[in-house]
Amino acid sequence: MFLAVLPFAMACSSSTTSSSSSSDAGGTTNAASVDLGKTIATKNACASCHGADYAGSASGIPGNPNVNAPNVTSDEQTGVGGWSDEQLAAAIRTGVDDEGKSLCSVMPKFGSLSDADVANLVAYLRSVPAVSKDIPATDCPAVK
Ligand code: HEC
Repeated sequence: MFLAVLPFAMACSSSTTSSSSSSDAGGTTNAASVDLGKTIATKNACASCHGADYAGSASGIPGNPNVNAPNVTSDEQTGVGGWSDEQLAAAIRTGVDDEGKSLCSVMPKFGSLSDADVANLVAYLRSVPAVSKDIPATDCPAVK
């Protein structure tokens, strides 16, 4: 199930890391950060699972019709509005949720993104309009 996503993600992260001139997060304005984050989100196809509006998919994800992708907009109740930047970064990079529990392995681990890439990606997610949409949790497929 990773095969379609992983080479794509890896090819992309190498190109994003090499293109940054001022990559320390403090030196990037929010608007610039959001822009860069959008590019990273597009390259890594986050919306293919989480939906074009990032409010999740209640009807499964590509290749896994029985696994829903959660709402990752900043809605406090149904999205990740209550998560800290660190919690979002950990979910994206290492596949753990806001309580430190492992997410389903169908959520790729974007471990090769740089600190700046992840900060920009989080800035972008926070910039997406919050959508109140409750996505029912699904069972993880068994890990092979
Ligand atoms: C192959 C489909 C897929 C792709 C691509 C994907 N995700 Fe996910 N993501 C998921 C699934 C499924 C979960 C839920 C896992 C679980 O419930 O254990 C998830 C969980 C998350 C979470 C935790 C939210 C929560 O409430 O548990 C965040 C944040 C997240 N993804 C962000 C991203 C970002 C940012 C990208 C792009 C860099 C991305 N995802 C790409 C499928 C995907």
